[in-house]
Amino acid sequence: MNKMKYNLTLFLFLFYLVANLSAEDGSKLWLRYQANPVSKTETGLSLFSAVVVSETSNVLVSAIDELKIASSQMTGSEIKFSDTLKQNCLLIGTSRNKYIQSLHINKELNGLGAEGFIIRKVRINGDSCTLIASNGDHGLLYGVFHLLRLFQTNNFTENITIKESPSYQVRILDHWDNPDRTVERGYAGYSLWRWDELPGKLSPRYKEYARANASIGINGTVLNNVNASPQILSKQYLVKVKALADVFRPYGIKVYLSVNFSSPAVLGGLPTSDPLNKDVRKWWNDKAKEIYTLIPDFGGFLVKANSEGLPGPQDYGRSHADGANMLADALKPYKGIVMWRAFVYNPGDNDRAKQAYNEFMPLDGMFHSNVIIQVKNGPIDFQPREPFSPLFGGLKKTKMMPEFQITQEYLGQANHLVFLAPLWKECLDADTYSAGKGSTVAKITDGTLYANNLSAIAGVANTGEDTNWCGHHFAQANWYAFGRLAWNNKLSPEKIAREWLKMTFSQNEDFVKPVTELMLQSREAAVDYMMPMGLHHLFAWEHHYGPEPWCAVVGARPDWLPSYYHKADSIGLGFNRSASGSNAVAQYHSPLRELYNNPDSCPENLILWFHHVAWDTRMKNGRTMWDELCFTYDSGVQQVREFQKIWDKAEPYVDAQRFHDVQSRLKIQARDAVWWKDACLLYFQTFSRRPIPYSIERPVHELEDLKKIKLNLKQHN
Ligand code: GCU
Repeated sequence: MNKMKYNLTLFLFLFYLVANLSAEDGSKLWLRYQANPVSKTETGLSLFSAVVVSETSNVLVSAIDELKIASSQMTGSEIKFSDTLKQNCLLIGTSRNKYIQSLHINKELNGLGAEGFIIRKVRINGDSCTLIASNGDHGLLYGVFHLLRLFQTNNFTENITIKESPSYQVRILDHWDNPDRTVERGYAGYSLWRWDELPGKLSPRYKEYARANASIGINGTVLNNVNASPQILSKQYLVKVKALADVFRPYGIKVYLSVNFSSPAVLGGLPTSDPLNKDVRKWWNDKAKEIYTLIPDFGGFLVKANSEGLPGPQDYGRSHADGANMLADALKPYKGIVMWRAFVYNPGDNDRAKQAYNEFMPLDGMFHSNVIIQVKNGPIDFQPREPFSPLFGGLKKTKMMPEFQITQEYLGQANHLVFLAPLWKECLDADTYSAGKGSTVAKITDGTLYANNLSAIAGVANTGEDTNWCGHHFAQANWYAFGRLAWNNKLSPEKIAREWLKMTFSQNEDFVKPVTELMLQSREAAVDYMMPMGLHHLFAWEHHYGPEPWCAVVGARPDWLPSYYHKADSIGLGFNRSASGSNAVAQYHSPLRELYNNPDSCPENLILWFHHVAWDTRMKNGRTMWDELCFTYDSGVQQVREFQKIWDKAEPYVDAQRFHDVQSRLKIQARDAVWWKDACLLYFQTFSRRPIPYSIERPVHELEDLKKIKLNLKQHN
């Protein structure tokens, strides 16, 4: 009888495995607790005799729930709990736990803060067990996810010793989601937030969203678009926001809102929204009180002001500091923060790349303590490659947080496989020289260089209601990577890619190794086939998907047109930002300023960002600039072809559904890469009047045909 039962279980288990390999829709993200990891940790959680946990809280319940899910999926059996310590148990607790007190590690735990944790093998009363300890229950939640990741990636070792605490206090996703559920620059379907159903009906995906974020350490979410509708602050919406906050709270996630600076006038009916007006200030104070009555742990506001036509303090002759400080004062009694964006470019200067710096530098030191300035990684706008924003090195008495774009607005949207960790790392590791050598963007923003009471980092989310959350299966890796880097800004893109691949697909090295390589090269490949050598903003009008270096919309702002940036003419190509041009180089500290200023020392991957280079100028490898441009575009195309080969070879390791989906998107990417190459080279050739080197692939399009392409990709601006 027992044997029959065993056989049946085995059969069902094998059936489950086979069914799993043949179709997966990606909805589980990286939280796939696979039943058959390759190696010795195949028993996973069954290594533990029992889980010992004596405290309780909503957050701890989330942690325990996760262990239960993982255990049943990894081992097929329920996890056991025990009130007392046992040999080989998993002990989970804070410094209030009596067993943990006996270890005298309070000081160590204190040093890690409420979100940090240790995982370590310990011996208590003669029993040896694995400990997850923290100063707070949030740390325990992160510790549990960390332990599970070790199992999922086959990195758990018997004598484990881990100590973690986050690089940034606030690790936040910015959703550009509108009340009508469209997502600005979103490529994964409508918004996750079903505003029309809230607060009465709660989609199960809210909790899944919170779980996924908690698993990578994200602890905040801005629910709505920076181009904010004043409506979000209405009572009608605030109760919906509260409903979401209640779902997210047990996963350690706070909600924040983008606010429209004109809300007092538009929503409150006041004659003005002047930040120095006492009625306006009262309106914000009352609004803050209303919000905190509903949501006691509300995080704060994100503000896009006096940017791209949005209202702001300058409409009343006030400064960004006046505007930000007014909101900060309203939130201060409740410990809320204001994330004020530096993404401003009023066309008062001849170079858009200089404008944010010009506007914010005079305000350094004028922001209140709960204001943090949110700075995009580069001075323009999430381009495939930009130098880091000079504001990071410029502001010294003002808190700043990096803003990265997870959604691939300028990087092939949901069709191109582009792993963004190398791009973000390039920014984080960039040395600003603001306080001498070693003043990296990471150290400036995480509080290492200037001790901070507040540090934060934001990523513009790429989630939507698509089954796989992100459109492209590999776009999930960017969500994952953002969270991991926000938690630990020292992690390498390689480590992150390997983790994600193992958790999301397979632990088999024959899969992980080549596909990691693919991921690591993918950003550079995209730069090469889209905008190499420092070119930028060659994108099609509005939707920003394909190439349109020729784009000329009558009456458009010049700084929204590609020719403003590439400046192609019969002499050469590129924007002269050296001392003889716009002098944007002066916004960087020495020795960068000199390095960028001199075309001989300027890194070639940024040469056309900083210089107008003659077509025949010799590059370091001896090629002319024109030839090098052609070769680089071509190399981008060739790289994507290689990616296709690598992926096709990965077929045995991936379920059919996800394999084919990625395969077909790589085909689009390969075609798009040729489109980009032909469009840019054929167009620039009308200026260079030089042949495309004969050793590279010939164009397959006519320039005139490419100019006629009009994609009907709807954007909601
Ligand atoms: C880009 C993007 C806009 C967005 C803006 C911003 O310009 O195209 O859709 O609103 O960035 O960051 O505010």
